[in-house]
Amino acid sequence: MVSPTEIAQLPAVDDPGVLARIRDHWLDGSDHAESHRELGEQFVVCAPHLPYLVRAERRMLGRMVRYLVSQGVRQFLDLGSGVPARDHVHEVAQEAAPDARVVYVDRDPGLWQDGLRLLEGNENAAYVCADLLCPDDVWRSPEVRRLLDLAEPTAVLLIDTLPHLTELQDPDAVVAAFVGPLARGSYLGISHFIPDESLDDWWPLYGKMFGPPPSVTLRPPERIAQFFTGLDLLEPGVVPVPLWRPDVRPDSDRNPERAQIHAGLARKN
Ligand SMILES: C[S@@+](CC[C@H](N)C(=O)[O-])C[C@H]1O[C@@H](n2cnc3c(N)ncnc32)[C@H](O)[C@@H]1O
Repeated sequence: MVSPTEIAQLPAVDDPGVLARIRDHWLDGSDHAESHRELGEQFVVCAPHLPYLVRAERRMLGRMVRYLVSQGVRQFLDLGSGVPARDHVHEVAQEAAPDARVVYVDRDPGLWQDGLRLLEGNENAAYVCADLLCPDDVWRSPEVRRLLDLAEPTAVLLIDTLPHLTELQDPDAVVAAFVGPLARGSYLGISHFIPDESLDDWWPLYGKMFGPPPSVTLRPPERIAQFFTGLDLLEPGVVPVPLWRPDVRPDSDRNPERAQIHAGLARKN
């Protein structure tokens, strides 16, 4: 049981740039400062599960991208990207297929600046600063026009991004606006926090991280599955991230079936 007093003492972050750096620390990356490491450690005192979930999700993303490359996909549109460091989409995809092209999108201008710096010199990767709520801004961006040929299969990825869209913002319409223009043989990959009674104690903590409600929306697996409506959801369906096509034995001591982030991948046929 987490102590409400300890959560109350945490600093309020509510800054995507700082959160992305804390995430980078939890991923053992190198794109953060000592202050982010210290902040991350403060959060871990109250929520020891968070670094595990972030790492499990990033490992799942790696498996998903390698699977997509194995299916011939060479174009990736990653929506709500954070910092493109430490085993992010372009690193994994271009290691498996050097001609893979990746466009990252995030609305945060600070993350965009970091993205430009980290991707400098990589002709096949770009970073667009745009809001997913305005899909045309993404589709019409010079980076998307230069790197993505929509006549070819493309993978659209929403990794821990949809929780930042409320139901009032109509996330189904946002997903449809990105899947609609894709060619047959394209894919949609999603990971998403689920509600869990053990998370009830964490709401004040999420408030510290993301701002007051409704800054984060948790959705049950059945609701996450609805985002794939009209597509062919691949096996094993929408499942906890450690169980999405694991290529090593899942960490059984961490109860992978109880991981509170679920993921799924579907194909447009
Ligand atoms: C939890 S982070 C996930 C980062 C990344 N996908 C990963 O796996 O590390 C969510 C990201 O979504 C971005 N985001 C949230 N709402 C957005 C919107 N409406 N348009 C674009 N980006 C958004 C945030 O700025 C943040 O960087």
